[in-house]
Amino acid sequence: MRINKKFNIKTVVKEVLLRNRYGKFRYSGKLDYDWSTMNYDRKAMVNRLLAAAAGSDYLEIGCAGNDLFDAVMASRKVGVDPVWGGTHRLTSDAFFASWRGHEFDVAFIDGLHHYPQVRRDLDNVLRWLRPGGWVAIHDMLPRDWLEEHVPQIQSRGWTGDGWKVAFELLASADVEFRVVAIDHGIVVVRPLVERPAIPDLDASLAAERFAYLHRNFALLPVVGYHEASAWIASHRAERGA
Ligand SMILES: C[S@@+](CC[C@H](N)C(=O)[O-])C[C@H]1O[C@@H](n2cnc3c(N)ncnc32)[C@H](O)[C@@H]1O
Repeated sequence: MRINKKFNIKTVVKEVLLRNRYGKFRYSGKLDYDWSTMNYDRKAMVNRLLAAAAGSDYLEIGCAGNDLFDAVMASRKVGVDPVWGGTHRLTSDAFFASWRGHEFDVAFIDGLHHYPQVRRDLDNVLRWLRPGGWVAIHDMLPRDWLEEHVPQIQSRGWTGDGWKVAFELLASADVEFRVVAIDHGIVVVRPLVERPAIPDLDASLAAERFAYLHRNFALLPVVGYHEASAWIASHRAERGA
């Protein structure tokens, strides 16, 4: 109990110091989502995608305590995490540098939540995705500047700035995607060609912060779970036709 108290005080002090240090990025706008009131989460989403995919090979980047990994109903699962969970104790970069195995039908990106890393994970995953496959990226809807800020300020509810990849997807003619407003935001990507090209917007987005997402939010194809599910089903019908 004493130890917990000490730890909490340390954490609070650290957060206050970091808030002051990065205070110039403070921004009052918010995205008004209460994830806890929603019935659907990343487990529902990934299992929904697997039901629509042609095969059942699953890849998860960043597995932690296997909360999702163990709930995924795939016949073959590969999980990559340098610290814990999954099946491969590696960073995603090291994994893709050495992987010589099979392709995947559904991949979930949830490793290091820094824009350049999320972008690299997406590029690598797309190279290993079977035709008709799906990619989902977690933590794409920070609700305020503190949830988004890199370097990380607060310990709870941090998404990082992977959301920038959604604006790159917006600029690509080779993919369709939706931002599903459940569970901190899940971007679901459907490649339209075998090797989709995603523009690299690092030069213009690297310095942008939560304010950019908030101001440009209306540009993104944000949908609820049921609308996303209908969109996924429409592609399934196309494949069967
Ligand atoms: C948010 S947790 C993953 C949660 C899990 N996907 C779930 O849904 O329950 C993020 C994980 O990413 C891992 N990670 C951090 N850097 C990574 C990297 N470069 N490559 C792969 N995983 C990484 C961390 O060790 C951590 O366990």
